[in-house]
Amino acid sequence: MQSSPILIKGPRIIDASSGLDQVGDILVVDGMIAAVGPISQDGLPDGCRTVDATGLVACPGFIDLHCHLREPGFEFKETIASGTRAAAKGGFTSICAMPNTDPPVDNAAVVDFLRFRSQAEAAVRVFPIACVSKGRLGRELADMEELASAGAVAFSDDGDPVYDANLMRLALAYSLDLGLPITNHCQDIALSRNGVMAEGAVASRLGLDGIPAAAEEAMIARDISLAELTGGRLHIAHVSTAGSVPLLRQAKERGLRVTAEVCPHHLTITDQWVLGGNGMDADAAGPLSYDTSTKVYPPLRTQRDVDALVQALAEGVIDCIATDHAPHDATSKQCTYQEAAFGISVLETALGSTLQMVHQGLLSLPDLVHRWTVGPASVLGSAFDGFASLDIGTPADVVLFDPDREWVVNPQEFLSQGKNTPLAGVTLKGQVVATFVDGRMVYESETSKLGAAG
Ligand code: DOR
Repeated sequence: MQSSPILIKGPRIIDASSGLDQVGDILVVDGMIAAVGPISQDGLPDGCRTVDATGLVACPGFIDLHCHLREPGFEFKETIASGTRAAAKGGFTSICAMPNTDPPVDNAAVVDFLRFRSQAEAAVRVFPIACVSKGRLGRELADMEELASAGAVAFSDDGDPVYDANLMRLALAYSLDLGLPITNHCQDIALSRNGVMAEGAVASRLGLDGIPAAAEEAMIARDISLAELTGGRLHIAHVSTAGSVPLLRQAKERGLRVTAEVCPHHLTITDQWVLGGNGMDADAAGPLSYDTSTKVYPPLRTQRDVDALVQALAEGVIDCIATDHAPHDATSKQCTYQEAAFGISVLETALGSTLQMVHQGLLSLPDLVHRWTVGPASVLGSAFDGFASLDIGTPADVVLFDPDREWVVNPQEFLSQGKNTPLAGVTLKGQVVATFVDGRMVYESETSKLGAAG
């Protein structure tokens, strides 16, 4: 559907692909960026609508290279329709859906299904990630060539690691020919076993089985060796431990094709939050209190891990942020900590929680924009270049946000079906005001004053 021309007037424009950071205007014509800079009201195209974005930040729409849309098979947790509306509310214009669905995305028919459903239902662009192994069983490679031809943008058995080292070696070898990354969920399951949270003081206090940091680090080290052996493209999903950082740093220094992502929750909250009460002091927590919405895989870790991950993101050792949006139905979380499903609903809190690093002076705003746009695009490859910039002639995928607007997280207001967030009741600073895909407004906040300029 053709969108009418729009002049976005007066935001701070941040385009990390070109280093642009200045107050100006953006003209969108035929769904494309037509001009960026000071733009005169004279000579605007017929029917052009002006939106007043004074005081807001405008940047390319965010790219999420790791989320779970649950369709097909788990529509009671999320659908392409609900998940992409949540994405638009979070400022995302392109999202990659993980293949741990039922059936899993291990053949071209399921990729086709996702494409058709997305064309009909999605509010933002959806890119399928396909399985590494048939049935996600970790035994036999899926037909990666067929899946790539059908439109898969990466391969992953996410939720589970590719445990068999030889299978991982073969997948990495194919990734080289196909030019697409293998995203591994790095956990040595012989070490993580039945663990439900990070090994440490809080797990001991609650009597819960812990997952040691070494479970993640051992598999990252293995995969880096395999990336070196094959020359393949390795992407490490949701890095959560301080000890993973030097492994990634050394791999990059050695020129290997290794990239990594980190999630908003691993950058901002700790295993202390498992006790409930939004990270309250351990002594203030009741003896039996726990919050299943903190249960996530890999688990929340210590402040030392958080600090190391933030620093690694700022330095570019970790390339990008990814949500690992993992929506669940209420009953999957209203149970004991052991029984609860792993996962956090993240799309709608991602910007507000990661802006915390900017407000605390740990990361610049242009760097945060980079890690949500250029960073993920460069992991995924050239097909995403046009989506991470405001260059003239690229699709007008744009987000407008107010970096200083404070709001209280109320999961009942989520557009995602997954209300499972540990941030309920928390005040975040920074909120999306509007999101455009191909120049069409796919989300506008209830409090937006964009119409003011008429
Ligand atoms: O917490 C998680 N939930 N981690 C994963 O890797 C999978 C995800 C899910 O699918 O629920």
